[in-house]
Amino acid sequence: MPSGGVVILDYGSQYTQLIARRVRAHNVFSSVVRCDAPEAEILEHAPRGVILSGGPASVFASDAPGLPDRLLGWGLPVLGICYGMQLLSRELGADVVPAEHAEYGHATIEIEGDPVLFRGTPRRQSVWMSHGDRISGGAGFHVVARSDNSEVAAFEDTDRRLYGVQFHPEVHHTEHGEAILRNFLFEVCGCRANWSPGDIVEPMVREIRERVGSGRVICAVSGGVDSAVAATLIDRAVGERLFCVFVDTGLLRAGERENVEALLGQQLRAHLEVVDARARFLERLRGVTDPEEKRRRIGHLFIEIFSEVGRAHGPFAFLGQGTLYPDRIESTATVGPSATIKTHHNVGGLPEDLEFELVEPLRWLFKDEVRRIGAELGLPRDQLRRHPFPGPGLAVRILGEVTEERLETLRQADRIFIEALHEWNLYDSVWQALAVLLPVRSVGVMGDARTYAWPVVLRAVSSTDGMTADWVALPPDFLKEVSNRIINEVPGVNRVAYDISSKPPATIEWE
Ligand code: XMP
Repeated sequence: MPSGGVVILDYGSQYTQLIARRVRAHNVFSSVVRCDAPEAEILEHAPRGVILSGGPASVFASDAPGLPDRLLGWGLPVLGICYGMQLLSRELGADVVPAEHAEYGHATIEIEGDPVLFRGTPRRQSVWMSHGDRISGGAGFHVVARSDNSEVAAFEDTDRRLYGVQFHPEVHHTEHGEAILRNFLFEVCGCRANWSPGDIVEPMVREIRERVGSGRVICAVSGGVDSAVAATLIDRAVGERLFCVFVDTGLLRAGERENVEALLGQQLRAHLEVVDARARFLERLRGVTDPEEKRRRIGHLFIEIFSEVGRAHGPFAFLGQGTLYPDRIESTATVGPSATIKTHHNVGGLPEDLEFELVEPLRWLFKDEVRRIGAELGLPRDQLRRHPFPGPGLAVRILGEVTEERLETLRQADRIFIEALHEWNLYDSVWQALAVLLPVRSVGVMGDARTYAWPVVLRAVSSTDGMTADWVALPPDFLKEVSNRIINEVPGVNRVAYDISSKPPATIEWE
């Protein structure tokens, strides 16, 4: 796989993935590894430089993560950001002290001399700070930028090619952050701009082919972008030795099964096995109202069905999955309760008598890169810009018991909402839009008659990765039209509400 990029050591900053994406935006490959990873893992892709991320810890904490033992022995250029800078400067003999005034948000820095990191940027510039400790006192490096609160806002040691910035060049509030990263990548590390997701299609196909040899691959497809792109890549590599499985859980949106059949059934050389499991899912969900119990049952049944198909059509030595890079980055900061807020299910936890080796062609890629590869592979644009859809489907958007009737109600409301977003050219401006059916009834009046029926809640959010999200202020005229259509066209619904909660503290899905 790719080499000659930079490796980012993750000290738990909320911005670590953003650093990786910003580097890739310069067509330089980046990988993220935990700050305490073994040397072999850090150097796996033969990096030309190292970036130390920020992090929530203070270097004074007793369990504060440190630098890899041999960091300076690798002879690679290093850029320390925020916490990473403090660690690096301490290693070089500087004093780090708690700041009298913690610095958060905008700050102006003043550049001194002609430091390589700041080439092509003005002497005074606005940056985004977020730190409680600061560096005081010189050491074996040059201070190249100061702010009111930071005696050392940036430093360099050009002999050993070590650099530090107290602020965050990766966030867009840092006016010249892009130039600073570019200078580090090209002027300091000598990286070449040769990473392009489109260009790696052929090497990826070759790699899959070599890996799989004469074996067979089974792959679950969902109708989403990731599994469609993964299946298409594997199909290019091994053709008929790929076997795709689409499970119709009955918890899908209107037209989803037809969409998958049209998309993959025709496009792939592989066989697409469509399993109608609607009755089994309904049966398994009967009487269940607890959100986690729903997810658990759906996850288990999915695996049961997938295993049955695997046994019936096997043997398969490989399991193809559309796992993305963010799913695999194990951030030091995300260890903790956030991992279990909701049980997200993918095809994990398969029974032991089905032993597969994994084929995960997208494992180094971010979502936007997967979309670019999908375009390169000729997948239709509509398919590539689809909103995310959760594995447990509409079941987690029907609060209370899932029944056939309630599924039909929600499916119709969802279809009207999504169609209208397309008609009003709003679909691409939101990250995800959905409808939710509530289990309480309210009073209304239709014609001359009183109604006592169910409310539908509409939700549309903006987000970059689903980890945080904000509600989108859709135009009132649009909401009015959608509301009218849902109330008039969907039996059993007499009220539409709009969800104006951000994540956190709410989540995107209601269950
Ligand atoms: P929440 O509701 O946790 O959702 O804010 C964040 C994003 O994840 C999607 N989601 C899922 N995706 N399996 C998935 O593949 C799941 O079980 C699942 N649950 C939520 C959700 O749609 C949103 O995009």
